[in-house]
Amino acid sequence: MLQGHSRSVESLIEPGRVSRLVYTDPNVFELEMERIFGRAWLYVGHESQIPNPGDYFTTDLGRQPVIMIRQNDQSIRVLLNRCTHRGAKVVNEVCGHARHMSCLYHGWTYDTDGTLLAVPVPEGCPAGFENKNYSLAQAPRMETYRGFVFASLSPNGISFEDHLGGMKANIDDLVNRAPEGKLALDAGVHRYMFRGNWKLQIENVLDSYHVPFGHASTVSKEGVQFARREGDKEGAKVVDKNNTANDWKVRRSYDMGNGHGWTSNTMLDEGKRTSPAYDAYVASLSAKLGEERATEILKPRMHNSLIYPNVSIMGLNIHVRVIKPIAVDLTEVTVYPIRLLGAPDSMNFGNIRLLNVTHSAASFVQSDDAEAFTRTQSGLASQLTEWVDISRGMGSEDVDADLNAPRAKATDEMVVRGQYRAWLNYMREVA
Ligand code: FES
Ligand SMILES: [Fe+2]
Repeated sequence: MLQGHSRSVESLIEPGRVSRLVYTDPNVFELEMERIFGRAWLYVGHESQIPNPGDYFTTDLGRQPVIMIRQNDQSIRVLLNRCTHRGAKVVNEVCGHARHMSCLYHGWTYDTDGTLLAVPVPEGCPAGFENKNYSLAQAPRMETYRGFVFASLSPNGISFEDHLGGMKANIDDLVNRAPEGKLALDAGVHRYMFRGNWKLQIENVLDSYHVPFGHASTVSKEGVQFARREGDKEGAKVVDKNNTANDWKVRRSYDMGNGHGWTSNTMLDEGKRTSPAYDAYVASLSAKLGEERATEILKPRMHNSLIYPNVSIMGLNIHVRVIKPIAVDLTEVTVYPIRLLGAPDSMNFGNIRLLNVTHSAASFVQSDDAEAFTRTQSGLASQLTEWVDISRGMGSEDVDADLNAPRAKATDEMVVRGQYRAWLNYMREVA
């Protein structure tokens, strides 16, 4: 039973619909922090953010502050950012370099591996006090895949391999596009908050249904007005004229299990792209890997993905998006531009400029979504209508033979239903 309720978490999820309480109830949010963010594999950061020993990056896993820090042997540790004295956050900066880490409160000082090096006025410590018993706590499990660092705050649970599953191919799809086979997330960030529940953002990254409406001012004003008047089918004909309709017709979404999903990419038909910057990029990839392999890598496959529960890799205007729940109705989103290492600067800077226009806090695209999330959270305050409908496309899914994964139109809500299957697994499971 949920605290303060006569309801169980199971009662909040039904086929094709979920209770408004999953977005609005503080008790549900508390349970999510414990049962999802307290034990799932969570994206922490990228290795390129901490290239040298002593480099660190701080973030929160759920609401628990952590330090991702490079060790002298080049390995990476994820330490809990909580002084073992009286609990202060030890590192306050988002990123930097440290020879050691000192707590501002009473000066306890830690090595970069988390061991306590020194305590001021040590003669005040009781008999038997030993520094080695006061190391910073470490995330019980940490794994990396091609530069992406994940950690779990629980020693138990699904293995990283099993958790990531088919989403490895999604990371490969992006990383392989770098001529050097590596990414760098070192071009700054866009960070913003919205007054809404965190799940609104993870549902949205795989939602192709909203694009012509939520982003009408960007994609096709006339087409959307027509579609609204005449219905999707006729409207699509108009939208088709400026290519947006290809999404409606061809793009598919895939339920990759464990709450993960992706949508295929049809808008970004790499084979048809041409510009001096893009041509130079293709030449750099071909020079490194050969033309055949370069052509294979550039086949449009990935559009957007969600690696449940807190990171999205966006293929269209490439970036990594990290979703951080703060309160039941408050979420922080951080967008990291990506540099494809080995690609010409003109290509990388062009991608970053596009991202600035589409996904900064005051951009054409992301601000539309933030407005939609805020309005949704406001609307869900209405108590007379309990259920949120996610039934679109139910029963019309098929199976993609190559991926062995359920597939649907990207305008359907199959992947959202997949997210709630994962949600329920975490929420009802006793650790
Ligand atoms: S709380 Fe960190 S030194 Fe006291
Ligand atoms: Fe959107």
